[in-house]
Amino acid sequence: MVKKEDRQKLHGHKSFVLWFTGLSGSGKSTLANKVEEILHGFGISTYLLDGDNIRFGLNRGLGFSEDDRKENIRRIGEVSKLFVDSGIVAITSFISPFKEDRKSVRKLLMNDEFIEIYTKCSVEACEVRDPKGLYKKARSGEISHFTGISSPYEPPSNPEIVIDTEITSIEDCTNEIINYLRINKYIS
Ligand code: ADX
Repeated sequence: MVKKEDRQKLHGHKSFVLWFTGLSGSGKSTLANKVEEILHGFGISTYLLDGDNIRFGLNRGLGFSEDDRKENIRRIGEVSKLFVDSGIVAITSFISPFKEDRKSVRKLLMNDEFIEIYTKCSVEACEVRDPKGLYKKARSGEISHFTGISSPYEPPSNPEIVIDTEITSIEDCTNEIINYLRINKYIS
């Protein structure tokens, strides 16, 4: 029987989840993409799970009610676990607003396989950025249950990495994450 360790050996590195959490517009996807590019350049097998490939596919049909978000995160957690089992580094970029749901995903994995990255940015700053014009729509009531406006976001109390995207350049944010992975021997 082929085991996780055998697959990791074949890939030549550890497999784990880089779990980005934060408000819409806080920089999760930008950073997740940059980090993936760098890891890929190092010869590491990665896969990025985000709204584009999950919410339009596997999770098509799920909306933004509390129950749907819970289910969204539960499924993404299970898929991430499969990636880790396959020896691949899973990078996820979802608001994942509820502590309990993120904790459940953490529990699915081994201690050192779940790296929670909080992209810290105030609602005010995200609202100024408003890259998709959604905060404007949330304020006008065109969109309901919008995280940070009409639906809660519970920041992690003990994430492995906190990135303050409000005051740090994208390049420095990316370097912080790569340095963490180096220092903690996830990559060499
Ligand atoms: S999560 O809460 O279930 O983790 P997810 O990350 O998948 O959310 O999706 C969030 C993205 O969907 C946002 O970045 C935004 O582009 C879009 N979106 C649409 N409606 C909402 C809403 N009501 N609240 C938050 N994001 C929304």
